[in-house]
Amino acid sequence: MPVIVDPDSTTARRLLGALPPGCQSVDTTERLLPWLAQHPEEYVVVLGPNISFGDGVTVCESLRVSRPATSVVFVRPALDTALLARAMQAGAREVVAMDDLHLVAGAVSRAHTFSQALRGPEASKHNGHVISVFSPKGGVGKTTVAVNLALALTDNGSRQVCLVDFDLAFGDVAITLQLFPSHTIEHAIGSEEDLDPPMLNSLLTRYQDALKVLAAPSHPDVRERITPLLISKVLRTLRTMYDYVVVDTAPAFDEQTLTALDETDECIIVATLDVPTLKNVKVALDTLEMLNIGHGHRYLLLNRADDAVGIGADKVEAILGMSVASQISTSIDIAAATNAGTPIIAASPHHPSSSAFRNLSTLLVGEPAGVADLGRTPSADSSDNDRFAKLFRIKR
Ligand SMILES: Nc1ncnc2c1ncn2[C@@H]1O[C@H](COP(=O)(O)OP(=O)(O)O)[C@@H](O)[C@H]1O
Ligand SMILES: [Mg+2]
Repeated sequence: MPVIVDPDSTTARRLLGALPPGCQSVDTTERLLPWLAQHPEEYVVVLGPNISFGDGVTVCESLRVSRPATSVVFVRPALDTALLARAMQAGAREVVAMDDLHLVAGAVSRAHTFSQALRGPEASKHNGHVISVFSPKGGVGKTTVAVNLALALTDNGSRQVCLVDFDLAFGDVAITLQLFPSHTIEHAIGSEEDLDPPMLNSLLTRYQDALKVLAAPSHPDVRERITPLLISKVLRTLRTMYDYVVVDTAPAFDEQTLTALDETDECIIVATLDVPTLKNVKVALDTLEMLNIGHGHRYLLLNRADDAVGIGADKVEAILGMSVASQISTSIDIAAATNAGTPIIAASPHHPSSSAFRNLSTLLVGEPAGVADLGRTPSADSSDNDRFAKLFRIKR
């Protein structure tokens, strides 16, 4: 995924919002080299407008020799013919002005095409999306959302999906799906260095042809032995094997969860209509912002959205400063489906919540990169129609 280099966090965020999900940023060219050493597959470096031209040229000259498959896109405050010529001589792939983010996105997309052509057809086989479902609170519906969303994403078998249970101490994906896994992520402990698709495949449990599950360990104490490196290796490997990887998470900002969120392309934050949950979700959003995780790629899901408890979706949006992307009502059918071991989307495909999960899946699949900036502050007087249009804009 593209890496942006810029010391100014506001500029880095603007660029992150315009580029494909999963982009990362570093603040200096000195930090870039160690970052690249850890990401041998990186296909493009975007040098932000606050990087000095001289430093940028040095990066281009060095990468041209050491990593010819990694393109450099120069973003400048304004275009200047002399600088353009110098940047091209140094090996930059494109030079674009900061005031047109569509041109930046276009340059990155061309760099991607170039790198795929260079690496051959194998490289383009799979570049699956990682979608995490997170909330700092337990019991709000994360597992329910993760399971139903994963099934919706299979689109009746046309897409390959893997559901990963990273609630490592108290994961309940397997029981929710009435699965009895013979292997779990526990069996990958210690295999950080040699984890590959065949090995990972042997740890998965089949739910349907199009949906596989990587179950959580059966004992809570195993969690301690699952390293952040293993978490990131698992997700990076699964990306190469599946169209979508859906991650259920623990209600905590522990190092495993943070690593999973760091590897995430799209993050669904689950909230309910109670003040303690909203307070914690607000803190979690601030933390994600501080850590530069998922900016522009967060979706707020309001579960039990029709509970008459004195707070409505509008208030939630005002409190959290972001729009609600999806709402699921409280329904005894959802709880009954969980208890019966058949998720609602499979048990009752026409149930309103099943439709809501399918709509969420469409939103995630169809939203073009960079447009999904659902993290904006809603204006106080925004009408319902306006909000509806913004929330549900899909494929353009
Ligand atoms: N919208 C809903 N209506 C009714 N029950 C729900 C709803 N969402 C979740 N539940 C139930 O609440 C319980 C907790 O949900 P779960 O998804 O396990 O939460 P979490 O993973 O956040 O701990 C489950 O029994 C689930 O069936
Ligand atoms: Mg759960």
